[in-house]
Amino acid sequence: MGLLHLTETQQEIQRLARDYAQRELAPLAGERDRESRFDRAMITQMAELGFLGMLIPEQYEGLGLDAQSYLLALEEIAVGDATAAVTLSVHNSLPTQMILNFGNEAQRTAFLPRMARGEWLGAFALSEPEAGSDAGSLRTQAVRDGDHWVLNGTKAWVSHGNEAQVILCMARTDSPDARRGSKGISTFILTPDLPGFHLTKKENKMGLRASPTLQIVLDNCRVPADRLVGEEGKGLTYALGSLDHGRLGIAAQAVGIARAALEASARYMTERKQFGQPIADFQAIQFKLADMATRITAARTLLHTAAAAKERGERVTRFSSMAKLFATETAMWVTTQAVQIYGGYGYVTDYPVERHMRDAKVTEIYEGTSEIQRIVIARETLAAAAAADGSLPD
Ligand code: CAA
Repeated sequence: MGLLHLTETQQEIQRLARDYAQRELAPLAGERDRESRFDRAMITQMAELGFLGMLIPEQYEGLGLDAQSYLLALEEIAVGDATAAVTLSVHNSLPTQMILNFGNEAQRTAFLPRMARGEWLGAFALSEPEAGSDAGSLRTQAVRDGDHWVLNGTKAWVSHGNEAQVILCMARTDSPDARRGSKGISTFILTPDLPGFHLTKKENKMGLRASPTLQIVLDNCRVPADRLVGEEGKGLTYALGSLDHGRLGIAAQAVGIARAALEASARYMTERKQFGQPIADFQAIQFKLADMATRITAARTLLHTAAAAKERGERVTRFSSMAKLFATETAMWVTTQAVQIYGGYGYVTDYPVERHMRDAKVTEIYEGTSEIQRIVIARETLAAAAAADGSLPD
């Protein structure tokens, strides 16, 4: 499909995901959205295809895919249903990767196979009501008590927090009397059976309505000491480092949402007649389609160039933020154009483009707003320029 040079295996994975998404996800995506219904059976189906273990190595029962294959699959899933894509992106990019990269062998063996099989869904709890973009200001406090940690605080905006069996949670382990800033945060593996773990507010959202977003209150939540991930005090670094990968997933989701809107628009343009001809014959509408297609291809190319760099083991912080920024703003722009092409019909729920537009909006917000991506890109670009004596290597 176009510019990307894909291996046979990557093409096969792309085809498998596309067939599945078009056959099973797309037909019911509107209904799930209207009913705000998270579909666990859909997760089971995707698990059977291996989609819950795409980045988990085979030794822990995952597929051990390369980053590009994973992102191709995610894009196809998002074309079918953006809510399925966010579930897969969060699970595959954040909790499973944090356990894999920073956990110990006992944690990997205990959690990863069941997460790869989709028996356990993973979630990520970094944000709090008063700590969103400023993730380092989080306040949830963990205090050591014998062979447990006791956690108190509120985690916010946790995607599928009520459906997850494994939640990677960031909390402060420094003392309130001697704060250590970003070095005072640690990562814990929570499970909903822990005493003091409470699901509270479920958000009523504009889009991605079939993906529940929860607040979690930790009220003297007792967490066994062996649930601490990696080193004490490294939790923020683990979380932000993992978001480098997570943001590529959200970029793929955004490309998929934009593509769904493009494909719907291309169909509609040839069917809808005004002034005695299909609106596809009007250059004003053709130009919209041309710009939509160009931006989507540019977003996908940037995304896969960043993914290839990640696959080579390079640090991709800057490029992952660029891919997320460009792909999500593309999704917002493209879906808005799609609604315009549909006119009044785009503004009502008879056609899917209003849902695509609502779904696109949050991609500019979660896993770091567009403004945060610009901060990261600017910082990294300045650092790269300084390191290269003023020139800007790509
Ligand atoms: N990789 C590894 N380490 C990183 C890193 C990266 N990409 N970025 C920062 N760090 C490290 C830094 O080196 C620093 O470590 P030290 O203290 O040891 O030096 C530490 O993390 C703190 O970094 P900064 O000093 O740069 O932190 P800051 O306070 O200036 O904030 C920020 C930086 C870019 C604004 C960051 O807070 C950020 O990205 N904010 C957005 C948060 C976000 O994306 N939240 C998403 C919530 S999850 C979600 O939406 C999930 C969902 O369910 C869909």
